[in-house]
Amino acid sequence: MSQAVLEAKDLARHYSVRRGLFKPDATVRALNGVSFELYSGKTLAIVGESGCGKSTLARLVTMIEDPSAGTLLIDGKPASVDDMSLRSQVQIVFQNPYGSLNPRQKVGSILEEPLKINTSDDAATRRRKAEEMMAKVGLRPEHYDRYPHMFSGGQRQRIAIARALMLRPKVLVLDEPVSALDLSIQAQVLNLLMDLQKEMGLAYLFISHGLSVVRHIADEVMVMYLGKPVETGTAEEVFSNPKHPYTAALLSATPIADPSRAKNRIRLQGELPSPLKPPPGCPFNPRCWKATDICRQEMPPLAGGETHKFACHHPLD
Ligand SMILES: Nc1ncnc2c1ncn2[C@@H]1O[C@H](COP(=O)(O)OP(=O)(O)OP(=O)(O)O)[C@@H](O)[C@H]1O
Ligand SMILES: [Mg+2]
Repeated sequence: MSQAVLEAKDLARHYSVRRGLFKPDATVRALNGVSFELYSGKTLAIVGESGCGKSTLARLVTMIEDPSAGTLLIDGKPASVDDMSLRSQVQIVFQNPYGSLNPRQKVGSILEEPLKINTSDDAATRRRKAEEMMAKVGLRPEHYDRYPHMFSGGQRQRIAIARALMLRPKVLVLDEPVSALDLSIQAQVLNLLMDLQKEMGLAYLFISHGLSVVRHIADEVMVMYLGKPVETGTAEEVFSNPKHPYTAALLSATPIADPSRAKNRIRLQGELPSPLKPPPGCPFNPRCWKATDICRQEMPPLAGGETHKFACHHPLD
């Protein structure tokens, strides 16, 4: 296979948090050893509950923060916060299109800003590029002079996607890009993302708290729990043959179109434990119906074949 556009090797990010006047600071292991490769034209979905470290991973990959440990390679080159040239290769689209666009800037100026900062394009070139990008994401020419509040949520997300693509990045990090949108609009935005990926050869890191959204867009899936991957593999393997009980639980919460497939809904007991004090052994053991003594003592390694790996002492059949 060709070279990965983005490679994460054992990425970790720990935060020190104050616990009070007379207590020592504690460490939050927001991300704890994540590795993957991302290729042009492909989508890796990162899936897990709130607080499992998805946005932390997004901040590392977009070089907003440096990792506490591990390395990040972009096009084979080591990346860091200070490296401006690599930074433009990875752009991000956030969940909330209301908060991420400046309400006082017109669409044209929002789209041209990255060009102003990073290129020597003149005004006419910037305008032409902005108009071309607007057409690509399904905005009309007259939208150029409008403010963000004049748009619907779906249209705003199109503006955010257009802005992220202005510098022609190789990688787009999509942090829950459709979670804030109506169901009918979600499908439109997902279709747009798939069209743009094909046309521009983009690699996507698609972050989602559920599996249903990524079913059609993901080539590979990484399921995370408390800052660590618990199952990774091709979308086909993970969806059709989940091995980790946590993945199965997430999948059972996913609506399926085929009513003939009987489905036993797995209800997860309890809440995600605090990352300040992860349970010993497998981090999922307090909520797992298959847990035995070994699960409470030993962290299972992520192991398996090339197309499917899981970290579980008692994988599902
Ligand atoms: N700057 C920080 N300082 C301290 N703790 C942090 C910091 N950033 C994140 N955390 C903690 O790290 C963990 C992972 O947070 P993160 O935002 O990556 O989760 P997430 O998977 O994106 O969640 P959500 O689905 O709610 O967006 C959380 O427990 C969070 O409280
Ligand atoms: Mg998040």
